[in-house]
Amino acid sequence: MRYDVPDRVRENAATPIRDLDRYRETHAAAANDPNGFWLGVTKERIAWREEPTLGLEGDFHGIAEGPLSWFGDGRLNVTESCLDRHLEARGDKVAILWEGDEPGEVRKLTYRELHAEVCKAANALAALGLKKGERAIIYMGMVPEAAIAMLACARLGAVHSVVFGGFSADALRDRVRDCGAEIVITQDLGVRGGKHIPLKATVDEALAGSPSVKKVLVYKRTEEEVPWDASRDVWWHEALGAAEPTHEAEIVEAEHPLFVLYTSGSTGRPKGVVHTSGGYITYTSYTHATVFDLREDDVYACVADVGWITGHSYIVYGPLANGATTLMFESIPTYPDAGRYWDMVQRHGVTIFYTAPTAIRALAAKGDEHVTKHDRSTLRVLGTVGEPINPEAWVWYFDVVGEKRCTIVDTWWQTETGGIAISPIAPATPTKPGSATLPMPGILTSLRTKEGAVIRGPGQGLLCIDHPWPGQARTVWGDHERFVATYFGHVPGAYFTGDGCRRDEDGYHWITGRVDDVLNVSGHRMGTAEFEAAIVSVEEVAEAAVVGYPHEVKGQGVYAYVVPQGGATVDPASLNGACRTQIGAHAKIDRVQVVPGLPKTRSGKVMRRILRKIAEGRGDELGDTSTLADPSVVDAIRDGFVTKD
Ligand code: PRX
Repeated sequence: MRYDVPDRVRENAATPIRDLDRYRETHAAAANDPNGFWLGVTKERIAWREEPTLGLEGDFHGIAEGPLSWFGDGRLNVTESCLDRHLEARGDKVAILWEGDEPGEVRKLTYRELHAEVCKAANALAALGLKKGERAIIYMGMVPEAAIAMLACARLGAVHSVVFGGFSADALRDRVRDCGAEIVITQDLGVRGGKHIPLKATVDEALAGSPSVKKVLVYKRTEEEVPWDASRDVWWHEALGAAEPTHEAEIVEAEHPLFVLYTSGSTGRPKGVVHTSGGYITYTSYTHATVFDLREDDVYACVADVGWITGHSYIVYGPLANGATTLMFESIPTYPDAGRYWDMVQRHGVTIFYTAPTAIRALAAKGDEHVTKHDRSTLRVLGTVGEPINPEAWVWYFDVVGEKRCTIVDTWWQTETGGIAISPIAPATPTKPGSATLPMPGILTSLRTKEGAVIRGPGQGLLCIDHPWPGQARTVWGDHERFVATYFGHVPGAYFTGDGCRRDEDGYHWITGRVDDVLNVSGHRMGTAEFEAAIVSVEEVAEAAVVGYPHEVKGQGVYAYVVPQGGATVDPASLNGACRTQIGAHAKIDRVQVVPGLPKTRSGKVMRRILRKIAEGRGDELGDTSTLADPSVVDAIRDGFVTKD
């Protein structure tokens, strides 16, 4: 099934890519001359202090020798693109439109006000000792101050690392240590769905024994009292109250690191993905304007969290670089009821709305009346991101939410890609439910066999990207070798995404999901290895293996196979307790099966393929198990298969 672009999306497009022919021309031009293409884009879109003359330096074959560089001789501060240069034409335009936890609890910051707040915060952070190149951890809820803190760090040339507010003290401590943060920026309490989240208390717990952190800057969101260490803690309102509303931005090289964002991989601990300044801001600005066909009077709402890459690229940096009005949403889609998104759409006149499949599925299950009772006539583009969207949910989004008048952009990308890499371009690309469609200009995808051979034409394989692009991650913080091994160790000379993909006869991409041991639960990316480490820390557990299984709402559920220590009884609640403490509240095991042993090869390797099949309910399709050290384990596991959460 193919959907043409609805008229109201096609008409008056702002992007020059208005139809498939223009898309093809642009994609071919960028492929033939990537440097010419991206230098053109960056000069048009970004406020450089010193314009670059260089495009790409380095390539994927030489990546082991060091990170790539884009625009290497350019100098800038990204906040000048996001703030200063808008002051003249857009000073009174709303930059951040904040909707708090309670419906109608609204704050609006114009570009002028946001600029002043960022300057004050930069001055305050400088007074607390934060310097260019040093790291600041941001552990906050969805308040404008989170974006202000990010931009203030960038203003100073300091490197921010936002840690999602759902992570536990243990997880926060690991990240503080890994990046060697000097400062933590947090708030007293997070407010979400009518509940309070003890952000400051979690910071206190995480920092016990982390001497690198000298100061904690605390935004006051509520009237509640929180524990206080006067030698270390500083109130945001006091520090900013004393600060000047102007600040001369620190001008940095294009490749100066902008932020580190931790994400889960298939092995070991989360890795700090590093994004740099000039290439990242170019790519997020370009893709945000192009994919959504941003227009000057759009009210743009991305309801992600700043703790994830979507919040970085498409709530803060891309939209602000484009002078857009960007909504920040503090609450959850079902508070106070399942109509909250559409209530906001109506009250704020939202024109572009961007969410995740898991939310779409959860809301579809609550019934159409929550949607239809609100006026959604302002909507034009509906986006989705984070996991494959099933065609049923896509069609519901299109028919019910968008009333068939809006186009859907199913945007495929990753923390590592920095910005959208495969997606429809709103006015140009006919859509197919479940397909992320075509690669962005400058993105050269290839499908590969396990051996790395290129698959031509329609087919299915490992999704790779064959040429560098400005928005891509440059390295893993403190561990370039890991970066090289993770992304370039599979297919020499190409970036391997970790995803599988099918390509149809129209060249459309259908993401089939991760082919490594990374889970995607409600759009949250988590490694099976992280779950396993938490589970085996429980005393009664000898061994554990975690796999994903298809889940109606969450996309994937978490299935744990647990081998008890001889004779011990395992309490599933203690397993979830360990995951909560070591990872965070969002890391929940859905199904636990106690098993006598794990299926292993004679060399001791756990056969995860077998465990995945059983968890998926396909235990009768295991194929040959004769290579296992003890094939009888499989029968026992198959017999005890758990079908209820
Ligand atoms: O498996 C893909 C899935 O999410 C992974 C990236 O997760 P993360 O780095 O947390 O970034 C999420 C937000 C960009 C990918 O490897 N994914 C993301 N978007 C899609 C998707 N899978 C299918 N369709 C998408 N549109």
